[in-house]
Amino acid sequence: MTAEPLERALDRHEHLMEPARFPGSGRLVLRTARESDLPELCRLDEEVFQEVAYPAFLLRQLYDMYAEHLLVLDEGEGHLRGYVLAATTGLSRDSWILGLCVTRDRRRHGLGRELMREILTRLRRDGVEQVRLTVEPANRAAILLYRSLGFRPEQPDDGLRRDYFGPGLDRQILRLELPRDH
Ligand SMILES: CC(C)(COP(=O)(O)OP(=O)(O)OC[C@H]1O[C@@H](n2cnc3c(N)ncnc32)[C@H](O)[C@@H]1OP(=O)(O)O)[C@@H](O)C(=O)NCCC(=O)NCCS
Repeated sequence: MTAEPLERALDRHEHLMEPARFPGSGRLVLRTARESDLPELCRLDEEVFQEVAYPAFLLRQLYDMYAEHLLVLDEGEGHLRGYVLAATTGLSRDSWILGLCVTRDRRRHGLGRELMREILTRLRRDGVEQVRLTVEPANRAAILLYRSLGFRPEQPDDGLRRDYFGPGLDRQILRLELPRDH
């Protein structure tokens, strides 16, 4: 949990032009990623995901396509402590969460939840109706977080997809329906 409530300085219609600050987490702001973040984003992705980190060229292209749905936790001076990335198909309005992480030293302070809440708010505002993601079946922390946000296994087989990322790399697919604004 955050030590203090998140200061809601952000204006959702301004795409986080005024970044959200996290008073309980030092000088940390949640904001949209910039092109100049890419080297640090790569470093962060490698720090957390190691051998399954995105190659730099792919992150670059994901940024080119999905920058408005790439949010970072900025500690200042270009140091990033987490990110979330969602990719949306233009035709069906379905979106996939392609990345979520918080650095080890910043975990269990509600930051992963805030990254997810903010991206879901934006996706819903932008007309997305369904969000999916894959998670390693043993990743209890992530699964508990996603389930607490309303994600549920996509049937059949309780969402389990064997060899999804190659031999032995099983994943569970979780899905969340976003209610439409009326
Ligand atoms: C998953 C991850 C992003 C969570 O970030 P976080 O900032 O630590 O999460 P939060 O503090 O917002 O926790 C939100 C909820 O997640 C669950 N959770 C998070 N970490 C947990 C842990 N270690 N054990 C059990 N539940 C955990 C809890 O339900 C928690 O709610 P609670 O604090 O009310 O109990 C972070 O652990 C991480 O970066 N892991 C490595 C990368 C990864 O696995 N990404 C997801 C790939 S699908």
